[in-house]
Amino acid sequence: MKIISNPTQVEIKRAAQALKDGHLVAFPTETVYGLGADATNERAVSRIYSVKARPTDHPLIVHISSINQLTKWAIDIPEYAIKLARKFWPGPITFIVKRSDLAKDFVTGGQDSVGLRVPSHRVAVSLLTEFEKLGGAGIAAPSANRFGAVSATTAKAVCEDLGDYLLAQDIVLDERGCTIGVESTILDCTTLTPRILRPGAVTTGNIESLFSITFDSSGLLNEKKVSGNSENHYSPKARVILNRLANPGEGFLALSNIPTPEGAIRLSAPDTLEQYARDLYNTFRLADEKKLQILVVIPPDGQGLAVAIRNRLSKAEDK
Ligand code: TXA
Ligand code: MG
Repeated sequence: MKIISNPTQVEIKRAAQALKDGHLVAFPTETVYGLGADATNERAVSRIYSVKARPTDHPLIVHISSINQLTKWAIDIPEYAIKLARKFWPGPITFIVKRSDLAKDFVTGGQDSVGLRVPSHRVAVSLLTEFEKLGGAGIAAPSANRFGAVSATTAKAVCEDLGDYLLAQDIVLDERGCTIGVESTILDCTTLTPRILRPGAVTTGNIESLFSITFDSSGLLNEKKVSGNSENHYSPKARVILNRLANPGEGFLALSNIPTPEGAIRLSAPDTLEQYARDLYNTFRLADEKKLQILVVIPPDGQGLAVAIRNRLSKAEDK
């Protein structure tokens, strides 16, 4: 694979052409890195599944350059979803909507719905724009990690995880800027009122306060195939243990106001929830680099981004 650091417009154009030719391009978004393929090319999309070792019934998010592309991929879009998309796109929220004929089974995992997102990272936006100029309709991209492992927030992490499985013509676009650090909020818009399937940086509070939408009492739903609903997702190799005192030699992650237990190895001391989310997956990776057996984590209290952080921690927790 080719790694291109701080890609210029010309290099991004070339990457868009590579996508059009059926190759894979990993690219940064404001949440995590995506492993992209032309969402209408079955062979290219099938490579995503093999590179990630991901079961083929797990649907992919289709990334588009702007809200104007929404009706290409979706039909019967509820009014509230359009309002929300206008407010939060480009940004860290994915809408699950009824699919159009363009969204084939190989992208939706056979579901009648499709996940759509307009990311805001500079590289993602230009890649999508250039790809659409070449006649592309959207880029299917899951997080750029092996199935069940920790999402990648740096190009280095993408290469460590997937480098062995990518081919010579595939490209990794390397630029900083996964500033959120956890995956997008997923909102199911196939029902009368929206439901959060995966919490993220766009919070229920954001949505409710802005649009006086009330959430289904079910809140977090488990019936759909949402990556992360299987046990032990987002896990490092180290055993993640929540809410206990760390022993000497064990890794430790907590907000900076919580002191490091005697002898424990402090891997991160975020001052804010934003920093906690941004560094979370890197901290997991650091635990593995240090070959730690155990990582003790004190999850943050409260609402907002804390909900997404606790969600990922509970998936990563050793059960
Ligand atoms: O922030 C993100 O969302 C990142 C960046 C790259 O955009 N992407 C990401 O993709 O996290 P992934 O595939 O790792 O997780 C998205 C999850 C999928 O696991 C899938 O189950 C769910 O979104 N999803 C996609 N389409 C769906 C659908 N039609 N119905 C229900 N869930 C869906
Ligand atoms: Mg993922």
